[in-house]
Amino acid sequence: MAKVLLGVTGSVAAIRTPLLYESLAQGGHDVRVVLTESAEYFFDARALATEAVFRDADEWPRRRHGERYQRDDPVLHIELRRWADLLLVAPLDAHTLAKFALGLCDNLLSCIYRAWERDRPIVLAPAMNTTMWDHPATARHLRQLFIDHSTFLSEPLSMPAEASALCELVNQHCPKLRVLTPVVKRLACGDEGMGAMVEVNTIVAAVEAALAS
Ligand SMILES: Cc1cc2nc3c(=O)[nH]c(=O)nc-3n(C[C@H](O)[C@H](O)[C@H](O)COP(=O)(O)O)c2cc1C
Repeated sequence: MAKVLLGVTGSVAAIRTPLLYESLAQGGHDVRVVLTESAEYFFDARALATEAVFRDADEWPRRRHGERYQRDDPVLHIELRRWADLLLVAPLDAHTLAKFALGLCDNLLSCIYRAWERDRPIVLAPAMNTTMWDHPATARHLRQLFIDHSTFLSEPLSMPAEASALCELVNQHCPKLRVLTPVVKRLACGDEGMGAMVEVNTIVAAVEAALAS
């Protein structure tokens, strides 16, 4: 059993969060969920069989009452990072991928990612429209993740231009980072093509493999 921190971002694939949560919990894992504001547009967090659901507002508990941070108050993104054995972000949308790549940290989830030690496991499951996936920014951001997580390589590698090939490169050379290459499917917007999040059982299998390695 492991402590899995499940980050959920603003993709249609977030509708599968209750199923993903259930599958991880049935596997014996202790799961806490971190939602971006956009993620909550896609499903009702009350459908999750847990109260361990964290939102951006939880980082700033006193702010809503007009109060300030007090010395020794816990810092939620650091507490959650300390608690977890593995960070899973599923679905990972284009916006949060960009933030991870650039090191931006303007919400709870991106602060956790930025504070995460690179010798601990991360599993990412991107999901986006085909044209978003094919945009050069996706490859640029995946290239940056590769650079950030392949610090153990002694020799520089030539990097492919295509996003799916970059996922493969990450999975081969970044021991603690897994990027689950999206699949071709009829997407929620009606387009058919690359960009759909992999199936829930594929995500769970990747989590198990990352924890075992
Ligand atoms: C109905 C709808 C569906 C969306 N689906 C996706 C998606 O599958 N992938 C994606 O990258 N962005 C998608 N977006 C856009 C993101 O929700 C948007 O970029 C948002 O700012 C992401 O914020 P977050 O990364 O903080 O969750 C969608 C937006 C809407 C309104």
